[in-house]
Amino acid sequence: MSVRIGDIAPDFEQDSTEGKIRFHDWAGGKWVVLFSHPKNFTPVCTTELGAVSKLKAEFDKRGVKALGLSVDQLTNHDKWADDIEQTQGARLNFPLIADADKSVSDKYGMIHPNASDTMTVRSVFIIDPNKKVRLTLTYPAATGRNFDEILRTIDSLQLTDKHSVATPADWQQGEDVIIVPSVTDEAAKEKFPQGWKALRPYLRVTPQPGK
Ligand code: BEZ
Repeated sequence: MSVRIGDIAPDFEQDSTEGKIRFHDWAGGKWVVLFSHPKNFTPVCTTELGAVSKLKAEFDKRGVKALGLSVDQLTNHDKWADDIEQTQGARLNFPLIADADKSVSDKYGMIHPNASDTMTVRSVFIIDPNKKVRLTLTYPAATGRNFDEILRTIDSLQLTDKHSVATPADWQQGEDVIIVPSVTDEAAKEKFPQGWKALRPYLRVTPQPGK
């Protein structure tokens, strides 16, 4: 099974480094980044978990909870946390799901059997406060993710939920945005009093609202 944008994120109950987690209750009304890594005690995964731990203040600022997952046993996760701290300079500060029976991985389609039938790929699901899946990413085992990009996509999702805008390629917080095509010029005059530049009738660029 796979989980796609617009779906309600499947609920589950599973063991984690912070006790049993019932996902929907644990998420509460927050944004969640649920991500899998293929295997504990492997090099790229060690750097990724350190990277997410270092970004805790950035996730907190955006009201986002991080939740990691692999198909390793729970005891294995605890030992590995020491290695992450010693090699990456950051103590694990979010729970890791120990999905040894693969029940969550299967529900979310995190195992791609033609890549590996024993480990997950590097999946990312960004889930909003209504439990709706808003973004998915899939990376192969040998390629570590860029978690600044994940923060950037959260900034875009949170901004575009509030205003009738979209964010262009490579957009960063504070930069100009695009007025969505469904907003007429007439309506845009009200919504975007600071005005816009129309590069084409369908490509109207305006300063980021609420900056
Ligand atoms: C890694 O994290 O380095 C890794 C994990 C699984 C397979 C290959 C590499």
